[in-house]
Amino acid sequence: MPKLNENYLNLKESYLFSEITHRVNSYTKSNPDKKVIRLGIGDVTLALGPKIISQLHEGVDALAGAESFKGYGPEQGYEFLREAIVDYYCQNGVTIAADEVFVSDGAKSDTGNITDLFAQDNIILIPDPVYPVYVDTNIMNGRNIIYINATAENNFLPMPDHSVHADIIYICSPNNPTGAAYNKDQLAEWVKYALENDAIILYDSAYECFITDETLPRSIFAIEGAQNCAIEFCSLSKTAGFTGTRCGYTIVPKALNFTASNGAKMSLNAMWNRRQTTKFNGVSYIVQKGAAAVFSAEGMAQCKANIKYYQENARIIAKGLAQKNIRYFGGINSPYIWFECPNNMDSWDFFDYLLNNAQVVGTPGAGFGKNGLKYFRLTSFGNRENTIEAMERIDKLF
Ligand code: MLT
Repeated sequence: MPKLNENYLNLKESYLFSEITHRVNSYTKSNPDKKVIRLGIGDVTLALGPKIISQLHEGVDALAGAESFKGYGPEQGYEFLREAIVDYYCQNGVTIAADEVFVSDGAKSDTGNITDLFAQDNIILIPDPVYPVYVDTNIMNGRNIIYINATAENNFLPMPDHSVHADIIYICSPNNPTGAAYNKDQLAEWVKYALENDAIILYDSAYECFITDETLPRSIFAIEGAQNCAIEFCSLSKTAGFTGTRCGYTIVPKALNFTASNGAKMSLNAMWNRRQTTKFNGVSYIVQKGAAAVFSAEGMAQCKANIKYYQENARIIAKGLAQKNIRYFGGINSPYIWFECPNNMDSWDFFDYLLNNAQVVGTPGAGFGKNGLKYFRLTSFGNRENTIEAMERIDKLF
């Protein structure tokens, strides 16, 4: 009999968004005549920009000719895309090198897979509430997690406790689920803490494109010293509507070098390269052609127009909640609006109440951790008509 990874026994039975899908499917099965509005998982609804579409087509056409055909590509991503990402960072005032960029099928996979590079007995620091992938993937590996509280009292932006040591720190900013975003001074304090503790920050910047306040950092590498203590994950899912197309990237600085127990030098960039070349065969040429178009002037302008549309949805949601005197957070530098469940309800109860009485789907805060127990998340990624209708239904409910 194989010995199974019994750490899986320590996981919740199903992944948060699978559980939501399951409950919504069972509701729609029993209520086929009801129009359900889905503002739960952060999945985009607008079409990809025309520049991206034309480049995806070009990618397909290339595969039709013997001369231009592509088989296996570089596991790390085609040079044209890695360079386009380097230029994008450069426009935001951040210097990285193309061989520090690893193209992948998205930040979800990479934030999970990165755990391959770390031994089991690391001390992991994770904010609560948090994107459940960070927690679940560490539980799968049997690691001990220390949680730091993100609450309304600290504006959902916990700061390091210098009396506590951690080896690996997860930060997501702008934050999923709370929508809070760290400023440069706050991130600098995290970088200082990481350097003092010889720790690594795993920084998820998947929502950087929603930052409207230009003083806020869009990358941890905008902070001095971060090249020596951070890995950054980013994704085109929200930037460019690639939730279904799938493409993301991870920046692993070459300066991230540590000493092994036998004294050998270990480079995280070399380790990630070794991991990816062994377990991953790269993103398809077609998708990478489309992804490179995101970073062209025309493509980026089209993506920004879509982001503006979602930001208006966020404004509509926030306004609707404010009118009901419901305290909310986020929605400004983030596509997510995080609010207190009305009447002090628990978030799963509120989820069921909203689904059954207004046919609106959101995400219960408890799915992101214990500090989310009384909170609820709505996404601005719906279409305008549905977003307005959802808020009208919520308005009538309370
Ligand atoms: C979310 O709704 O939290 C995200 O869309 C999930 C993800 O990006 O995997």
